[in-house]
Amino acid sequence: MTRYEQLQQELPANPKTWLITGVAGFIGSNLLETLLKLDQRVIGLDNFATGYQRNLDEVQGLVSETQWQRFTFIEGDIRNLEDCHAACANADYVLHQAALGSVPRSINDPITTNSVNIDGFLNMLVAARDAKVQSFTYAASSSTYGDHPGLPKVEDTIGKPLSPYAVTKYVNELYADVFARTYGFNTIGLRYFNVFGQRQDPDGAYAAVIPKWTAAMIKGEDVYINGDGETSRDFCFIENTVQANLLAATTEQPDAVNQVYNVALGDRTTLNELFHAIKQALAQNGAVYAAQLLYRDFRAGDVRHSQADISKAGNLLGYQPGFQITEGIEIAMPWYIANTNAG
Ligand SMILES: NC(=O)c1ccc[n+]([C@@H]2O[C@H](COP(=O)([O-])OP(=O)(O)OC[C@H]3O[C@@H](n4cnc5c(N)ncnc54)[C@H](O)[C@@H]3O)[C@@H](O)[C@H]2O)c1
Repeated sequence: MTRYEQLQQELPANPKTWLITGVAGFIGSNLLETLLKLDQRVIGLDNFATGYQRNLDEVQGLVSETQWQRFTFIEGDIRNLEDCHAACANADYVLHQAALGSVPRSINDPITTNSVNIDGFLNMLVAARDAKVQSFTYAASSSTYGDHPGLPKVEDTIGKPLSPYAVTKYVNELYADVFARTYGFNTIGLRYFNVFGQRQDPDGAYAAVIPKWTAAMIKGEDVYINGDGETSRDFCFIENTVQANLLAATTEQPDAVNQVYNVALGDRTTLNELFHAIKQALAQNGAVYAAQLLYRDFRAGDVRHSQADISKAGNLLGYQPGFQITEGIEIAMPWYIANTNAG
């Protein structure tokens, strides 16, 4: 039995209170779904900046009424320390996901990204410390590897940040480390690598590549690749990311806390390969994609290749990603078909 399977068996008999910030977003709402299904109590904090009430409504429909009653939602902003204190008050574990994602957004508006991702992060650290939570697990990012060309990416070897977003995520790690040293507080940073899956927003200028392409292909629109399509990423299905969060928050290994971990599949897929995987999953759902794949300029701030070494999370947390990229795309596809207006 894996550590995660064991945890899934243990948690329902031992309910805890989890705070998920960014609960109305993609990763937050998937964490909510899993934790409620495991009979946990969950407090959620979100200001709906990029998250949606419809994500919460969808989770409500996927859990039992009793499980849903264990969820308390606070509409609030992590830039407001009082909201953070209110949310942390009774929490055993914090899963801090709230932030403004997207490299291009941060290039267009570095001030707002900075205030949410750094000031908001610091507020959450202070509130969680004051509430004496057992652990503070937070969404870090593979963007911290910046311009370091080494592959696969190993936690201790990072380069210079390539965007304001990357700066904010690295500052999160520095603050978490200082809080651990200064206040004897348990933090764990999870450097996510291109997470994807159901409820990831396909709309807007800052949508991630998988939801954006999937929705465009369902609508029969042309798909644009930035660059030659040989840019590669370590795409990680949401269920793997959820697993890493639960393992990190509950770890009882002293040497596993106050660390950062890569959370990925440990594999590399080019954008050209990704396009064909989505096309194939669409075909399995009876849709033929007839529009075009078009190439345009490389995008500012993007790194060329990314692939994680996931052995640290495997060794210290027992993380074993259960889903390959094609499996993840196949699982998420019916959700995208059901939630995309075919136009
Ligand atoms: N999706 C990925 O591939 C990926 C990769 C690396 C890191 N991350 C990080 O993971 C976290 C979750 O990302 P996601 O993909 O679910 O994005 P998302 O935009 O779907 O979710 C973020 C949530 O945070 C909320 N939020 C934003 N600002 C807030 C504020 N000031 N106060 C309260 N709530 C606020 C949003 O409304 C949203 O619901 C973020 O920290 C992001 O930087 C994501």
